[in-house]
Amino acid sequence: MKIAIDGPAGAGKSTISKSVAKMLNYIYIDTGAMYRSVGLAAIKAGLDTRSETELQRIINNISIEIKNDEHGQKFFLNGKDVTKEIRKPEVSIAASNVATIPSVRLKLVDIQRKLAEKSSVVMDGRDIGTYVLPNAELKIFLTADVDERARRRYKELIEKKAETNFESVREEILFRDKNDSERDFAPLKQADDAVLLDTTNMSIDEVINKILSLVEEKCNDI
Ligand code: DC
Repeated sequence: MKIAIDGPAGAGKSTISKSVAKMLNYIYIDTGAMYRSVGLAAIKAGLDTRSETELQRIINNISIEIKNDEHGQKFFLNGKDVTKEIRKPEVSIAASNVATIPSVRLKLVDIQRKLAEKSSVVMDGRDIGTYVLPNAELKIFLTADVDERARRRYKELIEKKAETNFESVREEILFRDKNDSERDFAPLKQADDAVLLDTTNMSIDEVINKILSLVEEKCNDI
């Protein structure tokens, strides 16, 4: 079974998707980390993250690898472990910018579809239900009020000892909401057949249990 989990930044997609995948023994695929890796590569190369012409210089030679070990998932950009670096706030903005460029998306979508071909997956992102896996058996659109999303993201960054403040985290989320939903190609959008879950007043366990019950319903239907 393929499970697509989409939604805006800070809605809890990765925490929830990771747990659901673990419980079902499915592969978890974090597509945001792939856009983050391209964003980081662009920053390192000193490129304008919104310029298709400049990004062309790296996109065809870039190598992005995902490795699973006992500590979780690790991301390698051109052979170097960038798991921590890609979570920095400046990389979030760069990821959202490179994600507006069609040739970047096509390259990453190709990798994502190949990864999903072989196994049962939980894939999270912005366009999984609408574009990457339109035939996914279960589609969830996770959202939450913007202040709640900013609070969650701020807490996560502080736990990682990042230097930041609540207002700049909220600004970053608002910037990405707009950038991700207003781009022309595969924007952030709820698929017509996705189940909407507003997690503002839900605990992580409540969301996970709701998704597991939807999976069970789907299994009974198949
Ligand atoms: O899920 P995330 O916050 O790690 O994603 C970082 C950025 O990558 C996000 O702001 C937009 C982009 N992205 C995308 O356009 N499509 C996806 N499927 C996943 C992420």
